[in-house]
Amino acid sequence: MNHNPVFLALDLPRLDAAEALARKVSGHIGGIKLGLEFFCAHGHHGVHELHKLGLPIFLDLKLHDIPNTVAAAMQAIHVLEPAIVTVHAAGGRAMMEDAKAAAGENTKVVGVTVLTSLDDDDLTAIGVKAGPQEQALRLAELAQSAGLDGIVCSGHEVGAIHKQWKDGFFVVPGLRPADSGNGDQKRIVTPRQARDDGASVLVIGRPISRAEDPLAAAKAIEATL
Ligand code: C5P
Repeated sequence: MNHNPVFLALDLPRLDAAEALARKVSGHIGGIKLGLEFFCAHGHHGVHELHKLGLPIFLDLKLHDIPNTVAAAMQAIHVLEPAIVTVHAAGGRAMMEDAKAAAGENTKVVGVTVLTSLDDDDLTAIGVKAGPQEQALRLAELAQSAGLDGIVCSGHEVGAIHKQWKDGFFVVPGLRPADSGNGDQKRIVTPRQARDDGASVLVIGRPISRAEDPLAAAKAIEATL
């Protein structure tokens, strides 16, 4: 089995533009990631339109509410047959258990730990004494014990987490191809590196969507995998 682990993040406001981009690169990606912005703007209709391309859909909705509401939301998106759905691990054990129980058999339910937009001060402000890394590890363990399929994590930590959670399903965003012109080559994680370290899904947005030639960019990334 050598299917393409790249899920293209379609963070574009217009449905027609998102569809055109996905169509253009569809032979060289493994799936499509649709976020909260897309879902709020285009809803089920938008997802149905992109389903026509025949690629797996990742609904990155980051659900976080009381268990009953999250379970009902999972049931409401069941008809869209998402391959992957995200929930916030900070929603707690019961919420994650109920989310997983309500999801379709073919849907991976994946936990978001600590958003990379939050730093030490932000966590302190909401009463979390641990730093971002410690808190992320704690929530990863909770997600695993609540029966989720995996977590979202950075390319810098996927290797270490994979060692502790052998059959986990790991979604890794924030990747940059080696030729992306990033001067600081030491700190970037390439799609190939993340895959070798145990990533199940590579979320890639702007390196493809903002490329002068998105098809060439998608092909170039595919060729490294
Ligand atoms: O940076 P890029 O455009 O490749 O990001 C692709 C997707 O990954 C976006 O939808 C973004 O929200 C998500 N992302 C994330 N965590 C990060 C970086 C990006 O969830 N640290």
